[in-house]
Amino acid sequence: SVPLFDIKAVPKAELHVHVEGTLEPGMLLDFARRNDVAIRYRSMTDILSAYRFSDLQSFLEICWAGLTVLRTERDFYELARAYLTRAREDNVVHAEIYVTPADHTERGVPFDAVMDGISAAYADARLQRDITEGMILCVRRHKPVEEAFAAIEAARRWRDGVLALGLGGPEKGYPPGPFDQVFARARALGWKTTAHAGEEGPPNYVAEAIDRLRVDRIDHGVQCEADPALMRRLADEGTPLTVCPLSNVALRIFPDLQRHNLRRLLHAGLCITVNSDDPAYFGGHVNENFVRAAAALGLTAEEQLSLADNSLKAAFVDERRRQDYR
Ligand code: ADE
Ligand code: ZN
Repeated sequence: SVPLFDIKAVPKAELHVHVEGTLEPGMLLDFARRNDVAIRYRSMTDILSAYRFSDLQSFLEICWAGLTVLRTERDFYELARAYLTRAREDNVVHAEIYVTPADHTERGVPFDAVMDGISAAYADARLQRDITEGMILCVRRHKPVEEAFAAIEAARRWRDGVLALGLGGPEKGYPPGPFDQVFARARALGWKTTAHAGEEGPPNYVAEAIDRLRVDRIDHGVQCEADPALMRRLADEGTPLTVCPLSNVALRIFPDLQRHNLRRLLHAGLCITVNSDDPAYFGGHVNENFVRAAAALGLTAEEQLSLADNSLKAAFVDERRRQDYR
């Protein structure tokens, strides 16, 4: 018989979660009321029935509409604080939160309100000494590189809070290569780097992120399977992939979890991690991603443990900094 195994008890890191994607429907309604922002939804039911996506673009449009309710430092504080509390319930001991300031500054929200709000949530979580964390500054691939350069310079004031530069936004038609100098700048500042690539875009976007942006990790990356040489390279070089199973099914990258390739990628020797991406939209936090993927793919306890272990190894915080926090 199969021994009972509960991934919940296993310490893990979450490396791919967008703070904008942690906005739960109840919070969305509360913030809309508090900030007097007009929204397209009248109830939870309205919201939940709108959360059906056909691809990445259709999700991003819903996500962008939702985040208009985020206006103040307090909103960002409460959003990040709620996520960190929820993540701790999943035994997440280290969380790297993606934030896209340009999604907010373009609506007139001060850059400081975004960064200070999230930093204050981190500071409170850190006081409880049970979770370590850091921001990944996300720049938008569908906007001019000047926006990305400006975001990096503005974010330097939060030197201790920002661990890394990331690249996000609609992928198809937006290869990562044009951001090479942006990523060089981040590296010069001592930041780690990562990029969304091979989510719904082609495998050569993954290769380009590695060769031209010289990223330390790849977000998603699941399309690498179409290019065996690239897959071997990812395995040989140990480049971690932050895979998000429920996100991939919600955005129709795979028709269902049974046909997700994460088990094959793991068996091909890649450093695979499991993450939630946008948990308020895709139906689950990190443990839910583990449990549902494990059930659909028949992942053994050993395989689940190696996925959790990979997340700690692929984190952008070194052991010394982790000790400083505790
Ligand atoms: N922003 C939030 N979630 C994203 C995803 N899965 N891909 C690209 N950009 C995103
Ligand atoms: Zn993402």
